[in-house]
Formats: sequence, structure tokens, C-alpha cells
Amino acid sequence: LTPPLVAPSLLSADFSRAGEEAAAVEKAGADWLHLDVMDGHFVPNITFGPLMLQALRPHVKIPFDVHLMIQPVDLFLEPFVKAGANHLLVHIESGPHVYRTLQHIQALGAKPGIVLCPATPPEAISEVMGIVDIILVMTVNPGFGGQQFLPSQLEKIRKIREMIEKTGRDIRLMVDGGINHETAPLAVAAGADVIVAGTAVYGQKDYAEAIKRLKSFS
Ligand code: DX5
Ligand code: ZN
Repeated sequence: LTPPLVAPSLLSADFSRAGEEAAAVEKAGADWLHLDVMDGHFVPNITFGPLMLQALRPHVKIPFDVHLMIQPVDLFLEPFVKAGANHLLVHIESGPHVYRTLQHIQALGAKPGIVLCPATPPEAISEVMGIVDIILVMTVNPGFGGQQFLPSQLEKIRKIREMIEKTGRDIRLMVDGGINHETAPLAVAAGADVIVAGTAVYGQKDYAEAIKRLKSFS
């Protein structure tokens, strides 16, 4: 198995020291920084907006992988790109005009990604496969860190990996939620190549050791 890229989720970091916490995982070997944006409407929790990204941007060089759990989403695409977002991931469940949203993200010069909640079947994204650079399969119900991995999502990861191979396009397949050193190998074996980890990185004392552990298995 090829070791996955690791994207620590800032959600589990100490928010009072957000800049240091972001820099610490970069130094520890993180590939991307995963930023969970929640609006208290699309998901039952509230985090932060573009101002937070703008404040963090000078502290890290790795790509900002921004998971938008907000509705409506379109008004905020440009502010997030201006604040330093490199990838903008939107939920297929976030509205009827997601294709337009993905086109808009591309036009702004960021990488568009699509996210599926646990209840959404893989076929739901078949018509956006030609435009996305990233697909994110949620392995928990979005809204909170520290939840349990849903093994029922492994079959969806396998199916989406097949869909990706059929396109011949270079699309990253991410997993997010309940990922640790035990569940990461399952997700990677099913076809994921990027793992998001909140608790499994920020909940540990040694971030470098935690990231190494998530990348090294056979
Ligand atoms: C949940 C978020 C995740 C969260 C994962 O809605 O999308 O990115 O931070 O946290 P863990 O890794 O602790 O499950
Ligand atoms: Zn996330």
C-alpha cells in the first residue's frame, strides 16, 4: 500500500494558539492543513470563517484544504480563496446547483472538491467526476471531531475508487472522520489516498510521531 497524504484537521487543535498549532503540524510532516468551516445551519456546530484563514496563512506553506459545511456556499467562495484557500470542498448535499459552485471554484483558481455525507450514495457524484480534483468521503456524520469511524463507508470508498479509475483523471480520494492508526489502513486499502485526522494528530502529544504512525503501515 502506498502511504497516504495526511491532512491534520485544525478542529481538534488549541484554538487559542491556532497559528502555532498550524505551524506545528507542518513541521511534523503534514501534507495539507484541513480546515473545517461550519455554520450552525448545514451542521449543528459553528467554527470559523475566512478571517481565520487569513490569520493562519502567514504561519504555514502547506495547502489549505477547506471543508465547507455551510449553506448557502456560493457567497463565500471568493472570500475563502482570497484568504488563502487552495482546495475548496463543498458538499453534494449543499444545494441543487453544486455544478455551478464547482465551476466557480475553478474560475477563482482553487481546486474544487466534492464531499459526500454517510447517507449519500456514490452515484450522487457521477455527474461531477469530470470537474473535481478531490473527492471526500465522510466516515462520520459531519459536525464534530472525535466521533467513531463508520465501517459502512468502506464499500463507498471502493466504488468511488473504481469511478475515478474509469475517468482516467487525476483525482484525490480523501476520508474524514474517526481516522486513526487502526482505521487509516482500512480506508487506504479501500482506495483512499489522503486521510484527514483531527484527534489522531492534535489529540496526541507528539505530532510528528502521530503523523508518521498514520503514514506507516503495510
Ligand atoms: C467533522 C470534520 C472532521 C473532523 C475529524 O465534521 O469534517 O474534519 O475534524 O475529526 P476526527 O479525526 O477527530 O474524527
Ligand atoms: Zn472535515
